[in-house]
Amino acid sequence: MTTTLGTLEQRLRQKEMAVTLGRLGKKYLVLSGKGGVGKTTVAVNLAWLKAKEGFKVGLLDIDLHGPDLAGALYLDDTKISVDDRGHLVPVEAVKNLWILSVQNLLERKEEAVMWRGPRKMRAIIQFITETAWPKLDYFFIDSPPGTGDESLTVIKNIPDLKALVVSTGHRMAISDVAKALDFLKTTQTEITGLVDNLSLLICPECGQETILHDPAGPKKLAYQANIPFLGSLPMDPAATLLAEQKQLPVAEAAPDSPLATKLKALADLL
Ligand SMILES: Nc1ncnc2c1ncn2[C@@H]1O[C@H](COP(=O)(O)OP(=O)(O)O)[C@@H](O)[C@H]1O
Ligand SMILES: [Mg+2]
Repeated sequence: MTTTLGTLEQRLRQKEMAVTLGRLGKKYLVLSGKGGVGKTTVAVNLAWLKAKEGFKVGLLDIDLHGPDLAGALYLDDTKISVDDRGHLVPVEAVKNLWILSVQNLLERKEEAVMWRGPRKMRAIIQFITETAWPKLDYFFIDSPPGTGDESLTVIKNIPDLKALVVSTGHRMAISDVAKALDFLKTTQTEITGLVDNLSLLICPECGQETILHDPAGPKKLAYQANIPFLGSLPMDPAATLLAEQKQLPVAEAAPDSPLATKLKALADLL
């Protein structure tokens, strides 16, 4: 009896998921084996650029223990509301862009999320199915570092999810990103490509480009995995400082900067 009910419940959930997924448009998981390589920066800017183009865009944060997405858009003090069906209502960050992060559900800003496997999985499923996402053209998911429960949950539940891998040229990042690529291969996830970030530095004084980490590393990684290499996003302190001052993503705050130009080219590929 339990099995039958369990199976029925599972089937209903699958059906609910399929209906929701049909409304979310093209879906991208921004991931890396490594933290601090720019996943959130890439996800936020790509989503912002697509929304500015007039597409309807959803941006979901599944980095439950380090939810930076709302903060990256200066919306970490905004609270999520619930509609009359009991569904979460994503925060409208700008025209055409809706975001959902656990950060917007916390009572205290500095509260730590201490959830384990099943709880995390349930929360992520709820963020997809029990959330009032409008009908979207793009759905970007910002992930935590590594290949754990969070990324596995979205990969297992979203059949048409494509991965956008972010790396940097540092030796340790290369080794962790190689694991992420192995994870994607094992889970048979389609990979749109690998983008290098923070390997090149644009000098804020003279605008000259300096190599911090050899971008040949990420390029080789992409070549070995037989996936497209989508180029190098430079570390651009002048542009990111301006973005901080204007409290906007860099693509909006400094659109002609080397970093924003590369982000726009990346967005155009999707
Ligand atoms: N290309 C870049 N130029 C300058 N700063 C960057 C760039 N990419 C990321 N950063 C900064 O590096 C830090 C880590 O980036 P983040 O996107 O949070 O990484 P992740 O999500 O992978 O942990 C942030 O402070 C972000 O603003
Ligand atoms: Mg992040």
